[in-house]
Amino acid sequence: MKNIIILGSTGSIGKNALDIIRKFKEEFNLLGISANKNIGLLLEQVEEFKPKFTCVVSEREGKIFKDITAERGLSTKLLLGEKGLLDLVSIDQVDIVLVAIVGFAGFLPTYKALKMGKRVALANKESLVSGGELISKLKSGEIIPVDSEHSAIFQCLRGESIEKVERLILTASGGPFFRKGVEKFGEITVNDALNHPKWNMGAKITVDSSTMMNKGLEVIEAHYLFGVSPEKIDVVIHPQSVVHSMVEFVDGSIISQLGITDMKIPIGYALFYPERETLGFTRLDLFEVSPLEFFPPDFGKFPCLKLAFDSLKEGGTSPIVLNSANEVAVESFLKEEIGFMDIPIVIEETLNKFEKGEVRSVDDIVYVHRMAEKISMDIVQKFRKRV
Ligand SMILES: NC(=O)c1ccc[n+]([C@@H]2O[C@H](COP(=O)([O-])OP(=O)(O)OC[C@H]3O[C@@H](n4cnc5c(N)ncnc54)[C@H](OP(=O)(O)O)[C@@H]3O)[C@@H](O)[C@H]2O)c1
Repeated sequence: MKNIIILGSTGSIGKNALDIIRKFKEEFNLLGISANKNIGLLLEQVEEFKPKFTCVVSEREGKIFKDITAERGLSTKLLLGEKGLLDLVSIDQVDIVLVAIVGFAGFLPTYKALKMGKRVALANKESLVSGGELISKLKSGEIIPVDSEHSAIFQCLRGESIEKVERLILTASGGPFFRKGVEKFGEITVNDALNHPKWNMGAKITVDSSTMMNKGLEVIEAHYLFGVSPEKIDVVIHPQSVVHSMVEFVDGSIISQLGITDMKIPIGYALFYPERETLGFTRLDLFEVSPLEFFPPDFGKFPCLKLAFDSLKEGGTSPIVLNSANEVAVESFLKEEIGFMDIPIVIEETLNKFEKGEVRSVDDIVYVHRMAEKISMDIVQKFRKRV
């Protein structure tokens, strides 16, 4: 039986992972879970799974959670704040840490878990975008990707040599605005952006998919995960979202992984790795999904994708700044403080204002993130005054 910790158990990935654990009770012992503020759902999860440890990141909600667990007689050891997450991943008995937190908040726990030699099932792409420079140099721990594209590439590379890879081909659904004329982008509302045609996900990644920043972040994630140079990573729009990504080898062969759009498949793959388990979900009907189409991305229409490629090529502090500015811009867009088309502008202005440099330590990464957040918040203020 494997001891597992789920960071972000109340989110979209976290809930999918719990569905698998619920189904495979003999295989997994859910040792710990965490949430930021959603203590209502967290309490339900504690009642059902009885984890030994629970972490609430928001201190305010943590106090309320403590009172309620005492009232209900629930025995779970409460850990609080960001430190609580680090304590959770450091527990000796932990075999797998699923990092399903959204945003930069996933970086420190991911880094710590790897330092402690744990297997990390990594859904949180922002930690690799911001911390990839250091994470990729770690000699301890291992990452099994959960992001469907990276899980696909990871599977295609099994038994292959990375030296024989000509290019990684990341597929993208194109999001809700793939077929929308760019002249209409000014009218896009928050609801439009949250209406993803293929995947049901948390709000931030759904908006990232609509701007195609999600694919940009994934390009950076792929670079750090597989050690492939940016020139060898391509993005292909594939509206059916059946081919989850591909690897082209030096002999001209392309290997791909296909499946239905259900995150339980890559989550299950990461949790059972190196085995495969009969997950029992709907099968892909090839006749129903055909024809499969592939289109080149339009960098003019989706400037976030270009900003991500440029940041990766620039390296150093740039990917961190890109990620932080994007987090601020998306949050402001979700609060209707800025428009859809302002998102890339906030990111580009932040990148331009930030004095570029090298990244040598975890402290450097946290510092750059905080500074970039501050700069982009100031830029957002300018837009808010305009609105
Ligand atoms: N959803 C997908 O299908 C999908 C696919 C591929 C990759 N990913 C990646 O997986 C990650 C999670 O995505 P998601 O869609 O599951 O997000 P989500 O539904 O928004 O869930 C986010 C989780 O993180 C917690 N959280 C939020 N802010 C936090 C903070 N500051 N500190 C600690 N925990 C925090 C949330 O707790 P509360 O509920 O209390 O707010 C929740 O448990 C993202 O990095 C995303 O890019 C997701």
